[in-house]
Amino acid sequence: MCGIVGYIGFRSAASVIVEGLQKLEYRGYDSFGVATNNPRIDVYKCEGKISEKAQAAQRLHGSIGVGHTRWATHGVPSDRNAHPHLDCTGRIAVVHNGIIENYAALTRELEERGHRFRSETDTEVVAHLIEEYYRGDLVAAVRQAIARLKGSYALLVTAEGHEEIVAARDSSPLVLGIGDQELFAASDVTPLLGYTERVVYLEDGDLATLDREGWHVYRADTPVRREIEHVSWDVETVRKGGFRHYMLKEIFEQPKVFYDTLHGITPESLPERYRRPSEITVVACGSSYHAGLVFKYLCESTCRIPVRAELGSEFKYFTPPLKGIVMVITQSGETADTLAALKKAKAYNCPTLAITNVLGSSVTRIADHTLYMRAGPEISVAATKSFVAQLAVLMQLVNLMSPKNDFAESLERANSAIEEVLLQDISRAVEICRPAQHLFYVGRGLFYPIALEGALKMKEISYIHAEGYAAGELKHGPFALLSEETPVVALCSPGDTYSIMLSNIKEMKARNAPIIGIGARGDRELIDIVDVFIPIPECHELVQMISTSVLLQLLAYQTAVALDRDVDQPRNLAKSVTVE
Ligand code: F6R
Repeated sequence: MCGIVGYIGFRSAASVIVEGLQKLEYRGYDSFGVATNNPRIDVYKCEGKISEKAQAAQRLHGSIGVGHTRWATHGVPSDRNAHPHLDCTGRIAVVHNGIIENYAALTRELEERGHRFRSETDTEVVAHLIEEYYRGDLVAAVRQAIARLKGSYALLVTAEGHEEIVAARDSSPLVLGIGDQELFAASDVTPLLGYTERVVYLEDGDLATLDREGWHVYRADTPVRREIEHVSWDVETVRKGGFRHYMLKEIFEQPKVFYDTLHGITPESLPERYRRPSEITVVACGSSYHAGLVFKYLCESTCRIPVRAELGSEFKYFTPPLKGIVMVITQSGETADTLAALKKAKAYNCPTLAITNVLGSSVTRIADHTLYMRAGPEISVAATKSFVAQLAVLMQLVNLMSPKNDFAESLERANSAIEEVLLQDISRAVEICRPAQHLFYVGRGLFYPIALEGALKMKEISYIHAEGYAAGELKHGPFALLSEETPVVALCSPGDTYSIMLSNIKEMKARNAPIIGIGARGDRELIDIVDVFIPIPECHELVQMISTSVLLQLLAYQTAVALDRDVDQPRNLAKSVTVE
């Protein structure tokens, strides 16, 4: 989704902002722009990639500025619709992340009062509203303007004649960076890294001013204290570290991520009230939802606690009663559907638990209690290390909820198992997937959500149509699609589902589908019936499940590279989905 960066200090604002926007590219965007205040407002904005236009944007003069990467929601991607947006006089510049729901009514009202709009965006209305209320005090005008807005926003405003940036947030992330003689504002901490480790996470309803003297935060017009926090992520962590793509780097970080996350959750991490709930409702989207499904299988069988797993986007249609605890899983902590579900759970007075990777993200401010993954920043759009980190948190959670605590020790083997998998040659499987138009991924039990996740990874980065299925369901319809041109990736590890999976594979083979089988090293029975066999280390079922997930990430990655896809920023996708 959109990203914003603001700067006031002693450097070239345009350079800092363009560089910061590049660090936010992972969120997905179609256009970008910068405005500097020198003290005239100068703007450069256009559709397309920052790398192609960076130099032109960086020519803007001044040490105060705001910038934006846009992912179109209202109005097509175009130069005109790119932010910053200006008022009629061209003296007030605004960048915005979020959605102004009542923009149409406000636009009509302002047009009747003579304002001229230049774009189709919802954001432009904010610039005109500020102009409408401006009487020489920018902060007062912003305050009055935001009081009229319905929807979500993170806003940065700068205006001619004012050596300051005004920032405001409601339901969209915004963080301040506190440097030495310089201040920053951004959608997340990545643009600040390398400049400062001192950050302030703004809360919903906060308005902040950044000027030459310092920074202040207000609720309405009352000053409030906000703590400065230290972020330990360094610049190197967010660079590619020698890998061709962020995604590959992040896949290779997984042994450590799994270990760190597993050991980051201790008995003290989980307050007593979450230990034996009568039931658990898990809500999440995409890969995080798949992690939630794994939790359902594991928690019900281990703890005998009923678990329902719901998609964030469907939860609003779910009719209560809502009982037990509600747990949301979200890497970014900003997914709009997941946040809406969390708010609904709170409205029903359910104890809420969040699992996220981002300290200070919106979800952490709403949930009663948060458990953190330790994945570090995930830049590639496709979730990899965050998924494995979610599994680590969820497995520890089951350990803490279960009186038996019987697999904690086995998980210690996971990081070495992942390391083994990372060295696996999977080129023959890639050869089968690369020319395919359609793929099936099948598994049973715990491996069913892993099949869903494997298929999601393949479709999002290779653009091959891939379906994840419970292996037993294929004969209830999809069998009609099987042929020599429809390869099947079958997850067949030793355990409860092994023999029935073998039978399912034979049935698929009989329909001429090429089979890529993933199973325990040296499994002769499986090797004999599949076309390509990929071994994983034989160990505890949960470790096999994690290893299989990592293998499927590699399969998607290598297939996408073979097809020359934009691996880290697949078309039409955004890293953080902050609209419902
Ligand atoms: C897939 C992917 C998405 C996210 C989903 C939820 O690779 O990354 O499906 O998992 O958008 O995002 P979070 O976990 O940030 O709520």
